[in-house]
Amino acid sequence: MKDLFRPTWAEIDLNSLAYNLKKLKEILGKSRLMFVVKANAYGHGIEEVSLFAQQNRLCDWLGVSSVEEGLLLRQKGIKLPVLVLGSVYPMKNFQAFAEHNLTPTISSLWGVKELDKTAMSLGKKINCHIKIETGMNRIGVSENAFKSIMSFLETSRNVCVQAAYSHFSSADCDRDYSLMQLNLFKKITAPYEKFIERHMANSAGALNFPRARFDMARCGWAAYGYVKGFKPAMSLKSRIVFIKNVKRGAFISYNKSYKAAKNMRVATIPAGYGDGYIRAFSNRGYVLIDGQKCPIVGNITMDMFMADISGLKKAQVGDEVVLMGKSGKEYIGPDFLASLADTIGYEITTLIMSRVPRIYKM
Ligand SMILES: Cc1ncc(COP(=O)(O)O)c(C=O)c1O
Repeated sequence: MKDLFRPTWAEIDLNSLAYNLKKLKEILGKSRLMFVVKANAYGHGIEEVSLFAQQNRLCDWLGVSSVEEGLLLRQKGIKLPVLVLGSVYPMKNFQAFAEHNLTPTISSLWGVKELDKTAMSLGKKINCHIKIETGMNRIGVSENAFKSIMSFLETSRNVCVQAAYSHFSSADCDRDYSLMQLNLFKKITAPYEKFIERHMANSAGALNFPRARFDMARCGWAAYGYVKGFKPAMSLKSRIVFIKNVKRGAFISYNKSYKAAKNMRVATIPAGYGDGYIRAFSNRGYVLIDGQKCPIVGNITMDMFMADISGLKKAQVGDEVVLMGKSGKEYIGPDFLASLADTIGYEITTLIMSRVPRIYKM
């Protein structure tokens, strides 16, 4: 591992990532796998994990949220097909799609007409995927608008619809609602199933609803390993940089939110909300040192926080601290951290800031 001036880093286990992507491919059978790498690959590093997936043929497509992310992938040598999952605006982006061979998501008749104009002016054929509204109410066209788009495109020589797709809102928690979405998507797309491909499932959709696998599934969370049966890819680690004895009755950190109930031994750890290790963990979370749980004491500050190491007589400056990940028999996962902060695990990994170096391990 390269020397760090500040010993706080995120470790990405590429073996686990490979295991997860292979397992998803196996589960999907004939359906293709889109590896969703938007938002810096949920914090795992878009460039590195995408290149790794491409080099090892671990997925068929990559999914990003914006032209900017797609462009970055092309600049780094990604040749795989890339779907931009976000909405397209302004429409002048279409030129960038054509120039860099990125596939846009279209979710309006206006959008498809503008795409047609751009393709015609560039003298290039552009592929697109049409997003259909089935219950997420984020982006997507209604059944009627989808029909209008499909009949408009019958006359277009410039735009080719490769696929229609939709998105589950609650595949991990609401079976009935998901089945309603799935059935609606099937009904809307049935007249066109011979001409275009279809995809609907995210990780939970692909795992919980085999009928939702269609021609492809778009997976992020399971690929990164935070679903039962998969291997977590990221750990967040640091080292003790300072140790002190704190007397009973003393306050620790900003705003006096923690008062020592006994004489204690306290470690300072150089990570904080400036790294994405959020303040909501203050006085609630714990870290792992040598397989032992050490409670966070006091408010987490921007760059440092404190943990009670009274139970660890041998702990010393330089010892490794696991903020997220495994140590001995203990494990702190993003979903556990999320439960402390009334959020979801996706937010916990995605928020790990760029100032935290990512170390890739095989
Ligand atoms: C349109 C779309 N498809 C697929 C995914 C992947 O979802 P997951 O990470 O739950 O597999 C996302 C993620 O938010 C998404 O927005």
